[in-house]
Amino acid sequence: MNITDTLGRPLTDLRISVTDRCNFRCTYCMPKKIFGHNHQFLPKDDLLTFEEIERVTRSMVGLGVQKVRLTGGEPLVRREIEKLIGMLAKIPGLKDIAMTTNGTFSLEKVQALKDAGLERITVSLDALDDAVFKALNDVDFPVQNVLDWIDACDQAGVAPIKINMMVKRGVNEDDILPMARYFRGKGHILRLIEFMDVGRTNGWRLDDVVSSAEIVEKINAELPLEVVKSSYRGEVANRYRYVDGSGEIGVIASVTQPFCGDCTRARLSANGQIYTCLFAVQGHDLRALLRDGGTQDELIEAISSVWRQRADRYSEIRSSQTADLPKIEMSYIGG
Ligand code: GTP
Ligand code: 5AD
Ligand code: SF4
Ligand code: SF4
Repeated sequence: MNITDTLGRPLTDLRISVTDRCNFRCTYCMPKKIFGHNHQFLPKDDLLTFEEIERVTRSMVGLGVQKVRLTGGEPLVRREIEKLIGMLAKIPGLKDIAMTTNGTFSLEKVQALKDAGLERITVSLDALDDAVFKALNDVDFPVQNVLDWIDACDQAGVAPIKINMMVKRGVNEDDILPMARYFRGKGHILRLIEFMDVGRTNGWRLDDVVSSAEIVEKINAELPLEVVKSSYRGEVANRYRYVDGSGEIGVIASVTQPFCGDCTRARLSANGQIYTCLFAVQGHDLRALLRDGGTQDELIEAISSVWRQRADRYSEIRSSQTADLPKIEMSYIGG
Protein backbone atom coordinates (compact mmCIF):
# COMPACT_ATOMS: atom_id res chain seq x y z
CA MET A 1 0.00 0.00 0.00
CA ASN A 2 1.70 3.20 -1.19
CA ILE A 3 1.13 6.32 0.88
CA THR A 4 1.36 10.06 0.26
CA ASP A 5 1.84 13.05 2.55
CA THR A 6 -0.33 16.17 2.87
CA LEU A 7 1.28 17.59 -0.29
CA GLY A 8 0.69 14.43 -2.31
CA ARG A 9 4.33 13.27 -2.16
CA PRO A 10 4.88 9.50 -2.04
CA LEU A 11 7.43 7.82 0.23
CA THR A 12 9.98 6.23 -2.09
CA ASP A 13 13.41 6.83 -0.56
CA LEU A 14 14.82 5.93 2.81
CA ARG A 15 18.14 7.27 4.05
CA ILE A 16 19.50 5.32 6.97
CA SER A 17 22.10 6.79 9.29
CA VAL A 18 23.88 3.80 10.83
CA THR A 19 26.09 5.80 13.18
CA ASP A 20 26.50 9.42 14.28
CA ARG A 21 30.28 8.99 14.42
CA CYS A 22 32.86 9.87 11.79
CA ASN A 23 36.66 9.72 11.48
CA PHE A 24 36.63 13.17 9.82
CA ARG A 25 35.86 16.52 11.38
CA CYS A 26 34.79 18.40 8.26
CA THR A 27 34.59 22.02 9.31
CA TYR A 28 31.15 22.43 7.70
CA CYS A 29 29.68 19.28 9.23
CA MET A 30 31.36 18.21 12.50
CA PRO A 31 33.50 21.18 13.56
CA LYS A 32 36.13 20.15 16.12
CA LYS A 33 35.18 22.77 18.64
CA ILE A 34 31.77 21.10 19.01
CA PHE A 35 32.64 17.49 18.12
CA GLY A 36 35.76 17.35 20.30
CA HIS A 37 36.98 14.75 22.80
CA ASN A 38 34.16 15.55 25.17
CA HIS A 39 31.38 15.22 22.63
CA GLN A 40 28.79 12.64 23.65
CA PHE A 41 28.00 10.40 20.72
CA LEU A 42 25.09 7.99 20.95
CA PRO A 43 25.83 5.11 23.32
CA LYS A 44 26.02 1.71 21.63
CA ASP A 45 22.80 0.43 23.21
CA ASP A 46 20.89 3.33 21.73
CA LEU A 47 21.79 2.35 18.18
CA LEU A 48 19.32 0.24 16.27
CA THR A 49 20.62 -3.25 15.67
CA PHE A 50 20.88 -4.51 12.08
CA GLU A 51 17.76 -6.62 12.72
CA GLU A 52 15.85 -3.53 13.85
CA ILE A 53 17.02 -1.51 10.84
CA GLU A 54 15.96 -4.37 8.58
CA ARG A 55 12.48 -4.43 10.14
CA VAL A 56 11.97 -0.71 9.69
CA THR A 57 13.20 -0.91 6.10
CA ARG A 58 10.91 -3.84 5.34
CA SER A 59 7.95 -1.90 6.71
CA MET A 60 8.82 1.09 4.59
CA VAL A 61 9.24 -0.99 1.44
CA GLY A 62 5.68 -2.12 2.08
CA LEU A 63 4.66 1.55 2.00
CA GLY A 64 6.42 2.40 -1.26
CA VAL A 65 10.15 2.73 -0.55
CA GLN A 66 12.27 1.50 -3.45
CA LYS A 67 15.66 3.08 -2.70
CA VAL A 68 17.76 2.91 0.42
CA ARG A 69 20.92 4.88 1.07
CA LEU A 70 23.21 4.12 4.00
CA THR A 71 24.82 7.21 5.50
CA GLY A 72 26.07 8.45 8.84
CA GLY A 73 28.18 10.05 10.17
CA GLU A 74 30.46 7.73 8.28
CA PRO A 75 28.66 4.44 7.61
CA LEU A 76 31.87 2.40 7.43
CA VAL A 77 32.60 3.25 11.06
CA ARG A 78 29.80 0.80 11.88
CA ARG A 79 31.39 -2.64 12.13
CA GLU A 80 30.36 -5.31 9.63
CA ILE A 81 28.06 -2.98 7.75
CA GLU A 82 28.20 -5.49 4.88
CA LYS A 83 26.04 -7.78 7.03
CA LEU A 84 23.31 -5.14 7.07
CA ILE A 85 23.64 -4.71 3.30
CA GLY A 86 23.22 -8.46 2.88
CA MET A 87 20.05 -8.38 5.02
CA LEU A 88 18.59 -5.42 3.12
CA ALA A 89 19.41 -7.01 -0.23
CA LYS A 90 17.01 -9.84 0.62
CA ILE A 91 13.98 -7.57 1.11
CA PRO A 92 11.56 -8.23 -1.77
CA GLY A 93 10.62 -5.03 -3.60
CA LEU A 94 13.69 -3.04 -2.58
CA LYS A 95 15.22 -2.04 -5.90
CA ASP A 96 18.29 -0.03 -5.03
CA ILE A 97 20.86 -0.02 -2.21
CA ALA A 98 23.44 2.76 -2.16
CA MET A 99 25.90 4.26 0.31
CA THR A 100 27.51 7.64 0.86
CA THR A 101 30.98 7.31 2.38
CA ASN A 102 34.13 9.38 2.77
CA GLY A 103 36.14 6.56 1.18
CA THR A 104 38.81 6.31 3.83
CA PHE A 105 38.56 2.74 5.07
CA SER A 106 40.51 -0.29 3.90
CA LEU A 107 40.40 -1.07 0.20
CA GLU A 108 39.45 -4.68 0.96
CA LYS A 109 36.15 -3.42 2.33
CA VAL A 110 35.05 -2.44 -1.18
CA GLN A 111 34.77 -6.02 -2.43
CA ALA A 112 32.98 -7.10 0.75
CA LEU A 113 30.38 -4.35 0.23
CA LYS A 114 29.91 -5.29 -3.40
CA ASP A 115 29.60 -9.00 -2.59
CA ALA A 116 26.97 -8.22 0.02
CA GLY A 117 24.81 -6.47 -2.58
CA LEU A 118 25.81 -2.80 -2.59
CA GLU A 119 24.96 -1.53 -6.04
CA ARG A 120 25.97 2.11 -6.03
CA ILE A 121 28.36 4.24 -4.06
CA THR A 122 28.81 7.96 -3.56
CA VAL A 123 32.18 9.10 -2.26
CA SER A 124 32.49 12.51 -0.64
CA LEU A 125 35.55 14.47 -1.75
CA ASP A 126 35.64 18.23 -1.47
CA ALA A 127 38.96 19.06 -3.15
CA LEU A 128 41.84 17.62 -5.15
CA ASP A 129 44.31 19.97 -3.57
CA ASP A 130 45.79 18.21 -0.57
CA ALA A 131 46.11 21.31 1.61
CA VAL A 132 42.52 22.38 0.90
CA PHE A 133 41.18 18.87 1.55
CA LYS A 134 43.15 18.49 4.76
CA ALA A 135 41.93 21.85 6.01
CA LEU A 136 38.35 20.79 5.30
CA ASN A 137 38.49 17.29 6.81
CA ASP A 138 40.53 18.72 9.71
CA VAL A 139 42.20 15.38 10.50
CA ASP A 140 45.05 15.73 7.98
CA PHE A 141 43.68 13.01 5.70
CA PRO A 142 45.32 13.01 2.24
CA VAL A 143 43.42 13.15 -1.05
CA GLN A 144 45.31 10.24 -2.62
CA ASN A 145 43.82 7.62 -0.28
CA VAL A 146 40.29 8.67 -1.28
CA LEU A 147 41.23 8.56 -4.98
CA ASP A 148 42.58 5.02 -4.42
CA TRP A 149 39.28 4.07 -2.81
CA ILE A 150 37.36 5.40 -5.79
CA ASP A 151 39.61 3.34 -8.11
CA ALA A 152 38.97 0.25 -5.97
CA CYS A 153 35.20 0.77 -6.33
CA ASP A 154 35.67 1.10 -10.06
CA GLN A 155 37.66 -2.13 -10.23
CA ALA A 156 35.09 -3.95 -8.12
CA GLY A 157 32.40 -2.88 -10.58
CA VAL A 158 30.33 -0.76 -8.20
CA ALA A 159 29.02 1.67 -10.78
CA PRO A 160 28.25 4.40 -11.45
CA ILE A 161 30.37 6.10 -8.81
CA LYS A 162 29.25 9.55 -7.76
CA ILE A 163 31.63 12.03 -6.16
CA ASN A 164 30.03 14.55 -3.80
CA MET A 165 31.80 17.89 -3.54
CA MET A 166 30.35 20.44 -1.13
CA VAL A 167 31.33 23.88 -2.38
CA LYS A 168 31.93 26.74 0.02
CA ARG A 169 32.86 30.26 -1.03
CA GLY A 170 36.51 31.12 -0.47
CA VAL A 171 37.27 27.60 0.75
CA ASN A 172 37.24 25.16 -2.17
CA GLU A 173 35.73 27.02 -5.11
CA ASP A 174 39.13 26.99 -6.86
CA ASP A 175 38.95 23.21 -6.81
CA ILE A 176 35.79 23.04 -8.95
CA LEU A 177 37.64 22.98 -12.28
CA PRO A 178 40.44 20.61 -11.19
CA MET A 179 37.77 18.20 -9.89
CA ALA A 180 35.79 18.44 -13.15
CA ARG A 181 38.93 17.86 -15.22
CA TYR A 182 40.02 14.91 -13.10
CA PHE A 183 36.74 13.00 -13.01
CA ARG A 184 35.49 13.51 -16.57
CA GLY A 185 36.36 10.70 -18.92
CA LYS A 186 36.45 8.24 -16.03
CA GLY A 187 32.77 7.32 -16.07
CA HIS A 188 32.23 8.88 -12.64
CA ILE A 189 29.67 11.60 -11.93
CA LEU A 190 30.89 14.66 -10.05
CA ARG A 191 28.10 16.25 -7.97
CA LEU A 192 28.62 19.77 -6.76
CA ILE A 193 26.56 20.62 -3.70
CA GLU A 194 25.62 24.08 -2.49
CA PHE A 195 26.68 24.63 1.13
CA MET A 196 23.50 24.22 3.21
CA ASP A 197 22.28 25.65 6.51
CA VAL A 198 21.80 22.21 7.98
CA GLY A 199 22.34 21.83 11.74
CA ARG A 200 23.42 24.75 13.88
CA THR A 201 27.13 24.30 14.36
CA ASN A 202 28.60 25.09 10.95
CA GLY A 203 28.20 28.87 11.04
CA TRP A 204 26.32 28.93 7.73
CA ARG A 205 25.87 32.27 5.98
CA LEU A 206 24.20 32.87 2.63
CA ASP A 207 27.37 34.66 1.49
CA ASP A 208 29.28 31.37 1.75
CA VAL A 209 27.04 29.68 -0.81
CA VAL A 210 28.37 29.38 -4.35
CA SER A 211 25.21 29.03 -6.43
CA SER A 212 24.91 26.09 -8.77
CA ALA A 213 24.38 28.58 -11.61
CA GLU A 214 27.82 30.00 -10.86
CA ILE A 215 29.31 26.51 -10.59
CA VAL A 216 27.87 25.46 -13.95
CA GLU A 217 29.07 28.69 -15.58
CA LYS A 218 32.57 28.14 -14.29
CA ILE A 219 32.81 24.61 -15.66
CA ASN A 220 30.97 25.43 -18.89
CA ALA A 221 33.45 28.23 -19.68
CA GLU A 222 36.24 25.69 -20.03
CA LEU A 223 34.40 22.41 -20.62
CA PRO A 224 31.15 23.11 -22.48
CA LEU A 225 28.06 21.52 -20.93
CA GLU A 226 24.50 20.77 -22.00
CA VAL A 227 21.44 19.99 -19.90
CA VAL A 228 20.38 16.35 -19.41
CA LYS A 229 16.77 15.58 -18.46
CA SER A 230 16.29 14.18 -14.97
CA SER A 231 16.09 10.43 -14.85
CA TYR A 232 13.27 10.25 -12.33
CA ARG A 233 10.75 12.50 -10.60
CA GLY A 234 12.26 14.16 -7.56
CA GLU A 235 15.89 13.73 -8.62
CA VAL A 236 17.98 15.86 -6.29
CA ALA A 237 20.68 16.80 -8.78
CA ASN A 238 20.28 18.89 -11.93
CA ARG A 239 22.18 16.95 -14.57
CA TYR A 240 24.54 18.18 -17.29
CA ARG A 241 26.79 16.39 -19.76
CA TYR A 242 30.01 17.47 -21.37
CA VAL A 243 29.31 18.34 -25.01
CA ASP A 244 32.43 16.38 -26.06
CA GLY A 245 30.94 13.18 -24.62
CA SER A 246 33.40 12.88 -21.74
CA GLY A 247 30.76 12.35 -19.08
CA GLU A 248 28.23 13.88 -16.78
CA ILE A 249 28.00 16.11 -13.72
CA GLY A 250 25.20 17.04 -11.32
CA VAL A 251 24.60 20.17 -9.30
CA ILE A 252 22.56 20.13 -6.13
CA ALA A 253 20.93 23.51 -5.75
CA SER A 254 19.16 22.99 -2.45
CA VAL A 255 19.62 26.63 -1.46
CA THR A 256 19.07 28.53 -4.72
CA GLN A 257 16.54 26.16 -6.34
CA PRO A 258 14.86 24.10 -3.63
CA PHE A 259 13.34 20.79 -4.66
CA CYS A 260 10.91 20.15 -1.79
CA GLY A 261 7.93 19.84 -4.16
CA ASP A 262 9.11 16.39 -5.20
CA CYS A 263 10.79 15.34 -1.96
CA THR A 264 10.05 11.69 -1.33
CA ARG A 265 12.75 11.05 1.30
CA ALA A 266 12.44 9.82 4.86
CA ARG A 267 15.44 9.61 7.17
CA LEU A 268 16.06 7.08 9.91
CA SER A 269 18.57 8.14 12.55
CA ALA A 270 20.98 5.68 14.12
CA ASN A 271 18.88 5.59 17.30
CA GLY A 272 15.63 4.86 15.54
CA GLN A 273 13.91 8.19 15.00
CA ILE A 274 12.23 8.95 11.69
CA TYR A 275 12.71 12.44 10.29
CA THR A 276 10.63 13.64 7.39
CA CYS A 277 12.97 16.51 6.47
CA LEU A 278 16.71 17.12 6.56
CA PHE A 279 15.92 20.28 8.49
CA ALA A 280 13.40 18.75 10.87
CA VAL A 281 13.46 19.92 14.44
CA GLN A 282 11.97 16.73 15.82
CA GLY A 283 11.87 13.08 14.91
CA HIS A 284 9.34 10.36 15.60
CA ASP A 285 10.59 7.50 17.73
CA LEU A 286 10.33 3.96 16.38
CA ARG A 287 12.81 2.32 18.71
CA ALA A 288 10.44 2.08 21.64
CA LEU A 289 7.93 0.29 19.46
CA LEU A 290 10.63 -2.03 18.11
CA ARG A 291 11.91 -2.87 21.58
CA ASP A 292 8.52 -3.12 23.33
CA GLY A 293 7.35 -5.99 21.18
CA GLY A 294 5.53 -3.94 18.55
CA THR A 295 4.22 -6.04 15.68
CA GLN A 296 5.08 -5.44 12.02
CA ASP A 297 1.57 -4.06 11.49
CA GLU A 298 2.02 -1.59 14.35
CA LEU A 299 5.32 -0.48 12.89
CA ILE A 300 3.75 0.07 9.47
CA GLU A 301 0.89 1.99 11.08
CA ALA A 302 3.29 4.25 13.03
CA ILE A 303 5.34 5.06 9.93
CA SER A 304 2.34 5.73 7.72
CA SER A 305 0.76 7.97 10.29
CA VAL A 306 3.96 10.09 10.40
CA TRP A 307 4.17 10.27 6.60
CA ARG A 308 0.50 11.07 6.06
CA GLN A 309 0.84 14.09 8.35
CA ARG A 310 4.01 15.34 6.70
CA ALA A 311 4.02 18.91 5.36
CA ASP A 312 7.77 19.70 5.33
CA ARG A 313 9.24 22.00 2.71
CA TYR A 314 11.97 23.73 4.63
CA SER A 315 14.21 24.77 1.73
CA GLU A 316 11.30 26.47 -0.01
CA ILE A 317 10.34 28.55 3.01
CA ARG A 318 13.85 29.20 4.37
CA SER A 319 13.85 32.68 5.92
CA SER A 320 15.17 34.63 8.86
CA GLN A 321 12.59 32.82 11.03
CA THR A 322 13.55 29.31 9.96
CA ALA A 323 17.25 30.18 10.42
CA ASP A 324 16.79 30.20 14.20
CA LEU A 325 15.14 26.78 14.46
CA PRO A 326 16.93 24.28 16.71
CA LYS A 327 17.86 22.07 13.75
CA ILE A 328 19.44 18.64 13.97
CA GLU A 329 23.02 17.97 12.84
CA MET A 330 23.55 16.28 9.48
CA SER A 331 26.02 13.80 11.00
CA TYR A 332 23.16 12.53 13.18
CA ILE A 333 20.22 12.69 10.80
CA GLY A 334 22.18 11.43 7.76
CA GLY A 335 23.21 13.27 4.58
P1 GTP B 1 20.89 9.20 -6.08
O1 GTP B 1 20.24 8.11 -5.31
O2 GTP B 1 22.15 8.75 -6.71
O3 GTP B 1 19.98 9.90 -7.00
O4 GTP B 1 21.42 10.17 -4.98
P2 GTP B 1 20.81 11.53 -4.52
O5 GTP B 1 20.51 12.37 -5.71
O6 GTP B 1 19.77 11.30 -3.51
O7 GTP B 1 22.09 12.19 -3.95
P3 GTP B 1 22.81 12.03 -2.59
O8 GTP B 1 22.13 11.06 -1.76
O9 GTP B 1 24.25 11.79 -2.88
O10 GTP B 1 22.62 13.47 -2.03
C1 GTP B 1 23.54 14.43 -2.36
C2 GTP B 1 23.43 15.59 -1.41
O11 GTP B 1 22.24 16.31 -1.70
C3 GTP B 1 23.28 15.19 0.04
O12 GTP B 1 24.52 14.94 0.61
C4 GTP B 1 22.67 16.43 0.60
O13 GTP B 1 23.68 17.39 0.77
C5 GTP B 1 21.75 16.87 -0.53
N1 GTP B 1 20.40 16.34 -0.29
C6 GTP B 1 20.00 15.05 -0.48
N2 GTP B 1 18.72 14.92 -0.16
C7 GTP B 1 18.29 16.13 0.23
C8 GTP B 1 17.06 16.64 0.68
O14 GTP B 1 16.09 15.91 0.81
N3 GTP B 1 16.99 17.95 1.00
C9 GTP B 1 18.03 18.76 0.86
N4 GTP B 1 17.85 20.03 1.16
N5 GTP B 1 19.24 18.33 0.45
C10 GTP B 1 19.37 17.04 0.14
N1 5AD C 1 25.95 21.47 3.08
C1 5AD C 1 26.04 20.71 1.96
N2 5AD C 1 26.46 19.43 1.96
C2 5AD C 1 26.82 18.91 3.15
N3 5AD C 1 27.27 17.70 3.46
C3 5AD C 1 27.45 17.64 4.80
N4 5AD C 1 27.12 18.82 5.37
C4 5AD C 1 26.73 19.63 4.35
C5 5AD C 1 26.28 20.97 4.27
N5 5AD C 1 26.17 21.74 5.36
C6 5AD C 1 27.51 16.67 2.46
C7 5AD C 1 28.89 16.12 2.53
C8 5AD C 1 28.73 14.72 2.03
C9 5AD C 1 27.28 14.40 2.23
C10 5AD C 1 27.06 13.30 3.20
O1 5AD C 1 26.67 15.58 2.71
O2 5AD C 1 29.79 16.83 1.73
O3 5AD C 1 29.06 14.59 0.69
FE1 SF4 D 1 32.13 12.95 8.25
FE2 SF4 D 1 30.84 13.29 5.94
FE3 SF4 D 1 30.39 14.95 7.98
FE4 SF4 D 1 32.74 15.02 6.75
S1 SF4 D 1 30.74 15.51 5.83
S2 SF4 D 1 32.42 15.02 8.98
S3 SF4 D 1 33.04 12.90 6.21
S4 SF4 D 1 29.88 12.78 7.93
FE1 SF4 E 1 12.87 17.42 1.45
FE2 SF4 E 1 13.16 18.93 3.59
FE3 SF4 E 1 15.10 18.80 1.74
FE4 SF4 E 1 12.79 20.08 1.23
S1 SF4 E 1 14.33 20.66 2.73
S2 SF4 E 1 13.88 18.67 -0.12
S3 SF4 E 1 11.33 18.77 2.35
S4 SF4 E 1 14.38 17.14 3.06
